[in-house]
Amino acid sequence: METKRLIVDGVIEDPAFDEAVALLKAGQVVAFPTETVYGLGGIATNDEAVKAIYAAKGRPSDNPLIVHIGNFEQLERYVDNISEKAKKCMAAFWPGPLTVICHVKPGTLSQKVTAGLDTVGIRMPDHPVALRLLRQLDEPVAAPSANTSGKPSPTEGVHVEEDLAGRIPLILDGGATGIGVESTVIDLTLETPTILRPGGITKEMFEAVIGPVNEPTHIEQQAGAPKAPGMKYTHYAPDAPVFQIANDVATVREALTTLHAQGKKVALLAPDTFSTLAADWFFTFGDGSHEQMAAHLYDALRACNATEADIVLATVTDKNDVGAAIMNRLEKSAGGHWYKI
Ligand code: TXA
Ligand code: MG
Repeated sequence: METKRLIVDGVIEDPAFDEAVALLKAGQVVAFPTETVYGLGGIATNDEAVKAIYAAKGRPSDNPLIVHIGNFEQLERYVDNISEKAKKCMAAFWPGPLTVICHVKPGTLSQKVTAGLDTVGIRMPDHPVALRLLRQLDEPVAAPSANTSGKPSPTEGVHVEEDLAGRIPLILDGGATGIGVESTVIDLTLETPTILRPGGITKEMFEAVIGPVNEPTHIEQQAGAPKAPGMKYTHYAPDAPVFQIANDVATVREALTTLHAQGKKVALLAPDTFSTLAADWFFTFGDGSHEQMAAHLYDALRACNATEADIVLATVTDKNDVGAAIMNRLEKSAGGHWYKI
């Protein structure tokens, strides 16, 4: 299959949207940008389309998909008993990087979207291309991140092309996504709202709107029942092993000396202030702020695959605010490992 990548900006008249809508209506899949990462979309009521998503990504089918909508009217078609807290969160943070787990209205969506659960994750993305596509289509769109399963999520159209060229017909390329890590997933069907995946909407932001919210640590999530089945798979990993390391120039310099003495080639992912160290490859986290680190993380992890690095060192940050989402992804890509001097 030939994969077209069409540049779009979502504002001017653009036949790319007609093409995308026609493909989706025909049960095919289309990649599109959101404010978090690129999604691989298919109509969520169409079994064949949803099957095509899992097949293109090589994704295990017990990992449910997020359903994207373009307006509030669509919500009631697919979910039941929306709680007051859920309504408040949607009003406060949609469109935006928030996925709300709700009770699915039986028989409305493909069973393959929910992987057999009686709940569904719904999100209204805040990106002009995604919103225009969803509104023109007027159907719910199931869309996981548009990467090969297990790889870092795509934050640029070319990342999607790297992973899925030949496997999907169309990529709408709206340039680099803004936030760079996936949406916050919160389960509002539970007695105490619980964050299943940290993201751009933080615990503090929820608590200002709906009061106390649980945010289990990674370890607690692994120990408990897998409410979000996706949690059990390896994620966001380049080919070479990734190790977390302190955000400290002296520590990283010493690690590089030791690794070089062992004949190892090292890719370093760190803020710009580390760029003059003797790493074999350097990929930036920008100025090291949470905002820039989130925006650069996946691109940097992905870039490691074009190197011959034996090992990847990535500097950490604190877990405040969006730091929780960044460290959740970095810990997973490193399989929890730290570089020990
Ligand atoms: O930012 C995002 O959320 C991106 C863009 C494309 O919207 N999408 C995304 O989808 O990250 P995906 O499929 O890569 O991640 C979906 C996450 C998984 O961790 C999955 O287990 C969880 O949401 N999830 C989906 N439905 C669920 C449900 N009913 N109950 C619990 N977790 C669910
Ligand atoms: Mg994903």
